[in-house]
Amino acid sequence: MCGIVGYIGNKKASLVVLEALKNVEYRGYDSAGIAVLNSSIQIIKDVGKLAEIEKKHNFSSLEGTIGMGHTRWATHGGVNSMNAHPHTDESGEICLVHNGIIENFQTLREKLQKAGCKFRSETDTELMAHLISLELKKAKDFKGAFLSALQKIEGSFSFVVMHKGEQKLYGARKSSPLIIGVGKNEMFFASDMPAVLSHTRDFVFLQENEAAEITKEGYEIYSLSGAKISRAPTHVDWTPQMAQKEGYAHFMIKEISEQQNSIRNVLATDVTSAAKLLKKSKYISIIACGTSYHAALLFKLRLANYGFRSDVVIGSEYSTPPGSLQAQVVDKNTVVVAISQSGETADTLSAVRFAKTKGARIIGITNVIGSSLSREADSCIYTGAGPEISVVATKSFTSQVAILYMLAAVCAGENINEIKEKIRDLSAVIEAVISKDKEINDISAELSKHEDFFFIGRGAAHPVAMEGALKLKEITYLHAEAYAAGELKHGPLSLLEEGIPVIVIAPQNAGNVFKIISSIKECNARGAFIVGISDSDAVLEECNLKFKMPDCPTLFEAIAYTIPLQLLAYHMAIKLDKDPDKPRNLAKSVTVE
Ligand code: G6P
Repeated sequence: MCGIVGYIGNKKASLVVLEALKNVEYRGYDSAGIAVLNSSIQIIKDVGKLAEIEKKHNFSSLEGTIGMGHTRWATHGGVNSMNAHPHTDESGEICLVHNGIIENFQTLREKLQKAGCKFRSETDTELMAHLISLELKKAKDFKGAFLSALQKIEGSFSFVVMHKGEQKLYGARKSSPLIIGVGKNEMFFASDMPAVLSHTRDFVFLQENEAAEITKEGYEIYSLSGAKISRAPTHVDWTPQMAQKEGYAHFMIKEISEQQNSIRNVLATDVTSAAKLLKKSKYISIIACGTSYHAALLFKLRLANYGFRSDVVIGSEYSTPPGSLQAQVVDKNTVVVAISQSGETADTLSAVRFAKTKGARIIGITNVIGSSLSREADSCIYTGAGPEISVVATKSFTSQVAILYMLAAVCAGENINEIKEKIRDLSAVIEAVISKDKEINDISAELSKHEDFFFIGRGAAHPVAMEGALKLKEITYLHAEAYAAGELKHGPLSLLEEGIPVIVIAPQNAGNVFKIISSIKECNARGAFIVGISDSDAVLEECNLKFKMPDCPTLFEAIAYTIPLQLLAYHMAIKLDKDPDKPRNLAKSVTVE
């Protein structure tokens, strides 16, 4: 959603915060700002991406060694510099950044206005600065004022707060991530680890309804009622380079290219305890959003292949009345498999929490160590894909699918070593596909002249088609829809016009090649422009443009066939002059419902 950062140490805070903000900019990028504490609190904030703001303002003119920053994805209030964070109280002595939504905003704002507070922005965030300021008149110290203000707000938040005259930063979280980075004579707050990986790999993960303060020398954690909590840092093996572009033009192409290796990390993953839990269930309920939802659909098909029944539900629909199916069927015999790259997607977490109230047990599949999902699940499997910075998911998706397939196979009593052997083969297939990137680039040159796209596939190729269409929509802003190939004739064919590209995903091992050829012929007869991604010559013969897939272990075709679609979306975005790492209106981690 939004990216937040806080720094206290001996270095120039504005520069440390600026660099850290660049690493969390994928969380939001419609405006940004930095505040530094010196004899007073000074702020620079403006509309646009950080690179644009840097051209207009000199962040390094902010002198001081305590600072905070924010990159915004607007919720309350339009995109303008007044609404950009940080926000202050009227005295300018309390300054804060916020990620989340204050739900009792209207009531509190009215109360504060009656008490004489003058608001300068339309945000929910600004009221927190005024609220702390009012509480400070009653409380014995700033910490007390901060905690009592926190107790008055409803909704989700992570805050970093500074107060003139204090050599400290305060933070707090509820349903929105905040971590402490522990350095040598320096401490950090951040929305997530990539922000400060170049400074430290030791992190303390704040939990629900916890607050903390950091000084140069250390940190203290407490509950919202002020009770001290002790927690040691966790050392993570992510390296700073993992969160850098390392010579690639964009994070997206770097992350696509990493997949031959990231998929091998799955080999070290132990899924046995999650498999035991899953096997005990009477009902398997799978929850996810966005790209993770496509991994969920593939998992459902794989489970079905082994004779396990399951349902997949989009996070935001899980408990939506009226007549939410899940409200009827989820109980203590249910195991929920919640899939989320970030582990922070509010819709997914809210569905998980709902299922818990019904007594369900939770298996979390996430890429982010210490994320909310990892903590709230009964059993957590990390996907181990390494930091994913580009807003659109690529390597995290292929790792999710590999892990989920392993989990299904172990539940079914399959030989795990044979599965792992196939993952090694898959890694070579991914490498082979990526080495033919130029062919995809050539196809993208032709396709970037078009504005509407169909993606079709049968069986497991259908969720792959959905993922291909989603990638294209997200980063080119072109219209793309995915269909089960056999469903075209039941409606979507009426949309087909002369020349519309239909991207056909057709691994021949999936069987029924003749059926997908019939679908191609139906499209051809209506003048469509067919792009085939297949290992079948019979399929490719029917296509106007062809990408021949290398041989691939049948089990993992869905993963292999996703790679050319990722590359296609990337190259089209570049040809259309769009930034694939930061698509408009989107954020990587959506921490509001
Ligand atoms: C956002 C991102 C998508 C992502 C989805 C789910 O919408 O833009 O790329 O697939 O969230 O994210 P999660 O972290 O739960 O997998």
